[in-house]
Amino acid sequence: MDAAYPDDISKMNNDSTVVVRPAKNIQGSVRLPGDKSISHRYAMLAAIAEGDTKLENYSTGADCASTLGCLKALGANWERDGDKLIIHGRGRQLQVPTAPLDCGNSGSTVRMLSGILAGQNFTSELFGDESLSRRPMARVIKPLEAMGAKVAASDDGKLPLKVTGGNLKAIDYKMPVASAQVKSCVLFAGLFADGETAVEEPIRTRDHSEIALRAFGCEINQSGNEVRIKGGQKLRAIEGRVPGDISSSAFFLCAAALFPDSQLLVQDLLMNPTRARLLDVLIAMGVGISVQQIEEHHGELVGTVQVKGGNLKGMTLHGADSAVLIDEIPVFAAIAPYTENGIEIRDAKELRVKESDRIAAVAMNLRAMGAEVEELEDGLKIPGGQKLRGAEIDSLGDHRIAMAFAVAALRAQGETTIRGANAAVISYPEFYKTLSQLTQG
Ligand code: S3P
Repeated sequence: MDAAYPDDISKMNNDSTVVVRPAKNIQGSVRLPGDKSISHRYAMLAAIAEGDTKLENYSTGADCASTLGCLKALGANWERDGDKLIIHGRGRQLQVPTAPLDCGNSGSTVRMLSGILAGQNFTSELFGDESLSRRPMARVIKPLEAMGAKVAASDDGKLPLKVTGGNLKAIDYKMPVASAQVKSCVLFAGLFADGETAVEEPIRTRDHSEIALRAFGCEINQSGNEVRIKGGQKLRAIEGRVPGDISSSAFFLCAAALFPDSQLLVQDLLMNPTRARLLDVLIAMGVGISVQQIEEHHGELVGTVQVKGGNLKGMTLHGADSAVLIDEIPVFAAIAPYTENGIEIRDAKELRVKESDRIAAVAMNLRAMGAEVEELEDGLKIPGGQKLRGAEIDSLGDHRIAMAFAVAALRAQGETTIRGANAAVISYPEFYKTLSQLTQG
């Protein structure tokens, strides 16, 4: 890691570079900032709850700051008290914003918040950066319109969105795409609808909204892949700590997996079964993983994970696994050339509509490092047993691409320069600093 690396990447500009040097292994212990998915949900539900919600370890990422910015503009005030974030709930009624709401780079902010806005008796406008403006929004527009909201967007269903809410009716919605953001959007809108809203998903995606809604005092019914919520329920503020982000931990777990003599301890980590599949996959690949001290906090499981490197085998990811591991695929793909028999990823077309086209971004950057890789419409085929060389990586402004290739660089021959390295600020501003502390040179 570059010795001159700044402590605060939020001060770096978009052309920022970080130099990553080959490492010997990963050693140490780490606690991660709060999970991004849970932070968004707690903040949004806190805004429409009664009372003051007090959260420790709220995500430090820019995405979750975008959510907080929007909530302030909607009259839900918050302040920080040391590590604590205090959000003053407004009950179910938000305030008319005086300007369009800036969602930055955050798909979760725009998609989940639009569900709450659909329940408000006013018009609000949501916009985002260039990457977010390219991403599909028809997936939330369709169900919200079926519930009675008016949602205006560009002809091809992109930002900015203009949501005119109020007088929602419950629907039974069968989701065509597996997306926890869409499920959450419909459930949040369902809180404001007349009757009982049902959402059925094609596969079970992360269930933080269901768990958080219960934590805030709502009744939710779940059976199989269907979740039901009755409209008109009141939410009560909570006090709690956001568990460490398991998707951010994937970068360190994969970094440790690259070296047989790595030893890593990750404390206070989210262990929700809809997110923890990555541990099973790493175990199947030959990484030594043990989980200790599991506790439950507001319905979410939290634990300590011990990781020991091993000889990395390959794997195939497809079907439901690709959907639940969608955020971890870039880093799995980035370490694939170092595995014994390579990694094949299928059924992951959604990667093409993330913060960047992650299939193309991974293929381009692996090739820059000298790897052989086959790009498929819905995934990637990456042979194992390859040696990579240090190269210039382009993050394409995508946080997970920047971090995935910082990990791949640890076992390359020669230095790697990550261009657009500061994209990591979106989910994990402390990433490079922590990686350099854990890396033995
Ligand atoms: C998220 C759901 C996933 C994931 C994103 C966070 C969430 O997106 O990729 O990083 O918190 O619900 P989709 O809902 O588009 O699958």
